[in-house]
Amino acid sequence: MRSVLCPFFALAFLVFAGTATAQDGYKYIAQSFDGIGKSYMGREIASVMSHQGAPWLERPQREQQERTDKLIELLNLKPTDYVADIGAGSGYFAFRMGKLVPKGFVFAVDIQAEMLGLIEDRIANGEGDNVIPVHSSTASPKLKENTIDLMLLVDAYHEFSLPREMGIGMYRSLKPGGRIVLVEYRAEDPSVPIKTLHKMTEAQAKLEMAAVGFEWVSTDSTSLPWQHLMIFRKPSAK
Ligand SMILES: C[S@@+](CC[C@H](N)C(=O)[O-])C[C@H]1O[C@@H](n2cnc3c(N)ncnc32)[C@H](O)[C@@H]1O
Repeated sequence: MRSVLCPFFALAFLVFAGTATAQDGYKYIAQSFDGIGKSYMGREIASVMSHQGAPWLERPQREQQERTDKLIELLNLKPTDYVADIGAGSGYFAFRMGKLVPKGFVFAVDIQAEMLGLIEDRIANGEGDNVIPVHSSTASPKLKENTIDLMLLVDAYHEFSLPREMGIGMYRSLKPGGRIVLVEYRAEDPSVPIKTLHKMTEAQAKLEMAAVGFEWVSTDSTSLPWQHLMIFRKPSAK
């Protein structure tokens, strides 16, 4: 009996793995280095960077290597903006943006309690009184509907294990006309010194953002040394 059933279950698994989730864009695939063995719209999702990588995010040479100062300037934040830093990590961008929105807030959203702990420590030490840590889930940013003017995702979106659900959740929490800015290492450029699955092409980002309703606004692939800065928006209410 066993020998008859085993091939059946193996076949059933293959059918399930290949097609059961194809409708929503997900597929289970052979896991590659630093991937999770699941693809979304043809892109293998990268594994999440552990909180142990926080010192790399805060490395002193980062500003010069990635021109993070320029990146923030390109966001054109207004003092009253409500900003969400999705996949905020150690808060590198959240605290810098907080200074630029003195009459607004920065919601620092992450799934790792340890990363949020680093942010909470900085707040407890008197930094960023308008930075609010948010413990999100893999399926939702856990932000209120129609409240955010600008969402920033630096080096984070490619590791969301449920990008479609997160996309829908981010869309809901943006105000109509609000912007979502994806900053991703350029996969088109082999000289960018980052692991393959932690890079994205512009074409792939556009595909995935369009799938949840965002409109493409602009792509800047030359201002930053290694990254695309891609701006999308939630259409204004008609
Ligand atoms: C490589 S770090 C980048 C951190 C920060 N954006 C920066 O550039 O300094 C990616 C972060 O995204 C977070 N992350 C992964 N999946 C997430 C999800 N579904 N929702 C929110 N954060 C997520 C990880 O926990 C990690 O802190």
